[in-house]
Amino acid sequence: DAPLPRDRLGRPLHDLRISVIETCNYRCPYCMPEGQAESPSLAGSSARLGFDEIERLARAFVLLGVRKLRLTGGEPLLRRDLPALVARLARIPGVEDLALTTNGALLAGQAKALREAGLHRITISLDSLEPEGFRALTGGRGDLAEVLAGLAAAEAAGFSRIKINCVVQRGVNEEQVLPLAERFRGSGHVLRFIEYMDVGTCNGWRPQDVVPSAELRDRIAARWPLRPREPVYRGEVASRYAYADGAGEIGFVSSVSEPFCGDCHRARLSADGRLYTCLFAREGTPLRPAPGEDEAALAARIAAVWTARADRYSELRGQAGKDRRKIEMFYIGG
Ligand code: GTP
Ligand code: 5AD
Ligand code: SF4
Ligand code: SF4
Repeated sequence: DAPLPRDRLGRPLHDLRISVIETCNYRCPYCMPEGQAESPSLAGSSARLGFDEIERLARAFVLLGVRKLRLTGGEPLLRRDLPALVARLARIPGVEDLALTTNGALLAGQAKALREAGLHRITISLDSLEPEGFRALTGGRGDLAEVLAGLAAAEAAGFSRIKINCVVQRGVNEEQVLPLAERFRGSGHVLRFIEYMDVGTCNGWRPQDVVPSAELRDRIAARWPLRPREPVYRGEVASRYAYADGAGEIGFVSSVSEPFCGDCHRARLSADGRLYTCLFAREGTPLRPAPGEDEAALAARIAAVWTARADRYSELRGQAGKDRRKIEMFYIGG
């Protein structure tokens, strides 16, 4: 067997995030602001990879060392027959972890089918526990009760240690941090606070909109003391803390204040079949399989891109230049 590829900074390829659809039923202003966000390269569903193509690509990535797959969007539960794709990916030998990141709106109706198809883990985005605030944070579209019903359905279907992602914006939902911590303490689920990032260009990100994780951690620890925990795996995105009183775990994703590019082993596949080697990439490499192209040939194409990779945007942020072109978050799924 050929040795597994390493990029120019010595990083192996371990995770693949697969966007299955480039649109969303929400319009969170920090991701897909109403009216401004147009899908970059898509002529609708005909441009999307089919399940055969996604499976073939996933198998090629596994040949190169990928062990972890995460399905994203836009909103992945909008993709028709998603459980059928999950079942195909879950069967690939070498896939040790198969996860999904969703806004939860459609989860109540799909959690059971996803579990039965072999999905291992679910992450739900939730920026507020206050119904009016939640609606505003989703661009006027989100119904908090639906998301909470989705969470309950996921629990009932047998998903455990569900991750809850909250993007914190200064002066917007900061006051939700303690209520969210309180709600998920002792639940068996893992709440993570995410620093608002300058992904894409349509959200008008400003440095002063970011609440550094250290500040949130201190605020939470003042109420419920915290102890740092060791990462579960090298290159883990979130830093983890345990509540000292045994009420479980909480995490912080600090890509602005503490970039983690040094261990970044994630590749991203867009719904229209492009490979992105960074969340902040300028552009992707077309990867759609040619008719009859087998996994080994695809793997060779992927390896050529990976071995040329030198991305470390979060570490260079200040130097990247204001007019730099970047893909949008809803297009690549975070
Ligand atoms: P686990 O598999 O549970 O560790 O999930 P994860 O934290 O890798 O995935 P998730 O989709 O929950 O991502 C959490 C947040 O981290 C999202 O806002 C992502 O956009 C962000 N994130 C994930 N990977 C990267 C990355 O490589 N670079 C940056 N800058 N942010 C990332
Ligand atoms: N900064 C940080 N996180 C973001 N997400 C979407 N846009 C941003 C941004 N600009 C989050 C979503 C979801 C995850 C995949 O990415 O809320 O939890
Ligand atoms: Fe909001 Fe996620 Fe949809 Fe973006 S993809 S608009 S963050 S729900
Ligand atoms: Fe990886 Fe790019 Fe994120 Fe750095 S900014 S951790 S290289 S995806």
